[in-house]
Amino acid sequence: MKIAHISDTHCNYGTDFNEKIFDKAAKMMNKLDADIVFISGDLTTDGLLSEYEFAKEKLNQIDEKLVIVPGNHDERNLGFKLFPEFFGETDFIHTYDDVTLVGLASSEPDKDDGRLGRGRHKLIEQGIKKNDNMTIIGFHHHVIPVPNSGRETNIIEDAGETLDILLKNEVPLVLMGHRHVPFAVKIHKTLLVNAGTFSCNRTRAHFGNTFNIIDIEDDSISIAVVDIRKEKQRKTIEYNLSDGCCINRNYD
Ligand SMILES: [Fe+2]
Ligand SMILES: [Fe+2]
Repeated sequence: MKIAHISDTHCNYGTDFNEKIFDKAAKMMNKLDADIVFISGDLTTDGLLSEYEFAKEKLNQIDEKLVIVPGNHDERNLGFKLFPEFFGETDFIHTYDDVTLVGLASSEPDKDDGRLGRGRHKLIEQGIKKNDNMTIIGFHHHVIPVPNSGRETNIIEDAGETLDILLKNEVPLVLMGHRHVPFAVKIHKTLLVNAGTFSCNRTRAHFGNTFNIIDIEDDSISIAVVDIRKEKQRKTIEYNLSDGCCINRNYD
């Protein structure tokens, strides 16, 4: 199974959105033949109706099936009421052939901070227990600090409790965004993966606009970061689930 993991498109009519890079990236995505495109939030910048309409129109350029959770920016200005109208439920358990994907809204109206809370922790546990599928959890905010993304802020309030649930249950893969920097690391038996920003002009240093390609086979997960401007792919993680071996090219 191939998942394209994108985040933080920030479709807006101000300075945030880079339409040229979005259009280029959408074309690259369509050549990937991914089974799912998971978007970890911040589709808009201010949660405005015009931005939701714009985001919907732009995302229509991507041919694959989109699975989306909201980010903090999408919940601004009553945007939390618009999200379900445009993109469906904010918290869900989706089952595919060998994979169960639990999507969660970590954001709250008019706040940049994130939290999951006990209801969503229960949803994680429900997703894990559903069948023998591989469980993937996806939400917007980060659960551990992301290197190279500036001073720590907005990490989910209940990061400790969330991390405990993920690690205890040996959830193999967690997909997040928010910090506009790509990052991936394995802790215990869990890969924590952040996508950078797909099309926001607010990039950091040389990280640029990126998205992740996640390849899942029977007993392995590999992650590559795609630099959209350079059209270059760099494999960062190879994790073998059966022997626990993980190569992280950022550090190894
Ligand atoms: Fe963002
Ligand atoms: Fe965000």
